Amino acid sequence: MTLTLPDTTRLTRQNFPPDFVFGVATSSYQIEGAAHEGGRSPSIWDTFCATPGKVMNGENGDVACDHYHRLDSDLDLIASLNVNAYRFSVAWPRIIPGGRGATNQAGLDFYSRLVDGLLARDITPWLTLYHWDLPQVLQDKGGWPERDTALAFGDYAAVVAAELGDRVKHWITINEPWVAAFLGYGVGIHAPGHTDLAESFAASHHLLLAHGLGVQAVRASVPDAQVGITLNLGAAYPASSSPADEAAAHRQDGFANRWYLGPVFGRGYPQDTVDLLGAASPQAQGLVLPGDLEMISSPSDFLGVNMYSRSVVEDAPDNGDFLGVKQVKVEGSEYTGFDWEVAPQSLTDLMLRLQRDYNPAAIYITENGATYPDHVSPDGTVHDTARTRYFQQHLAALGAAITGGAKMAGYFAWSLMDNFEWAEGYDKRFGIVHVDFGTQARTLKASGKWYQDFLARTQQSKAT
Ligand code: FCB
Repeated sequence: MTLTLPDTTRLTRQNFPPDFVFGVATSSYQIEGAAHEGGRSPSIWDTFCATPGKVMNGENGDVACDHYHRLDSDLDLIASLNVNAYRFSVAWPRIIPGGRGATNQAGLDFYSRLVDGLLARDITPWLTLYHWDLPQVLQDKGGWPERDTALAFGDYAAVVAAELGDRVKHWITINEPWVAAFLGYGVGIHAPGHTDLAESFAASHHLLLAHGLGVQAVRASVPDAQVGITLNLGAAYPASSSPADEAAAHRQDGFANRWYLGPVFGRGYPQDTVDLLGAASPQAQGLVLPGDLEMISSPSDFLGVNMYSRSVVEDAPDNGDFLGVKQVKVEGSEYTGFDWEVAPQSLTDLMLRLQRDYNPAAIYITENGATYPDHVSPDGTVHDTARTRYFQQHLAALGAAITGGAKMAGYFAWSLMDNFEWAEGYDKRFGIVHVDFGTQARTLKASGKWYQDFLARTQQSKAT
């Protein structure tokens, strides 16, 4: 398929294949609020937020965007954007408050209403089973470093699939296992805030195992489901052409990308990363049991990729960790509010490489977006020109990947609206809709208006 891409500012939906899916994405803890309502039990994020010094300004998701109480108007808002699809996540502690065992009908009803509301508006639901809100009761038993948590996830996936599988056909098992494992258990800047390399790699194995169990559970009750995992991937480039920096980029790629891609695509864990980890590897810990790799590589229908930036690294043998790489800032590059480099070309490179090395049946960008310090102007608008440009550049880069042969099937902008940005609290805004957290007023930003117009210029029906 050949695409002719005009100058990025004049992109329209017609520049993409007719059945290409466009959506917006959110996650449960970041938007729902109602943290103590509807039978929901605390998650590791409630606990983490309540721990002094962990989250910016001591903020939490108790109220967030109050989406739980504003479901219908938020669904109207989503529909107004002209998207085909909406990616959301289900909060495990709303469905099985005890982590295992009894289900909570109020929780199931909430997501059932959400799904019905989407379908009534001709929007395809894309459901993520795990976007980081592990029931605290399961963390109390050891959390993701324990194999039982993966087994519990399999049971939870079966419950949600049985309840919603008649209407939901697009399923994402786990969102960003690298973040959940490494930021949560390795460096401790995410819940549950542990700092132990061996624990974090035990967690990564069990999150991948949970993915495999989730694929099986969804397939068992939804034979026509499309199921996949979402990985956060970023192409890794050496800061110079020195062999040492090139080797550093390869190590970075193993740690952040190949560690997850390998097992999911049936190649097992990359041996170079296993060797670097030594005693901290799940293999050395005796955690990779017979059958695990087969389970993790259960055939899936697509690969979900969250892409925000790239990494540029140099060799740093003395920095005291197993990886020995240092991220460097690139002179002359533009950076977003998170200090992430705007690197659209790396999206093209990454997609072509994924297609070449792993040959997924389809790739969806399940998140892409940028944070900037937005302000509502006196004219009532948020003039977030930099965010609009970011979307345009990344969509053009996607087009180039399609032209190059990557099987790109869809794109979800992160995020529908400003929300609770984890350890950064409400300080970092990623929405294409601005949220005033005092009044809960939603205001479409200029970037949202651009996306809406971009999507309106199409012949395509919204049903996919
Ligand atoms: C991703 C997360 C998402 C959001 C964006 C900015 O890592 O999946 O919840 O926080 O980053």
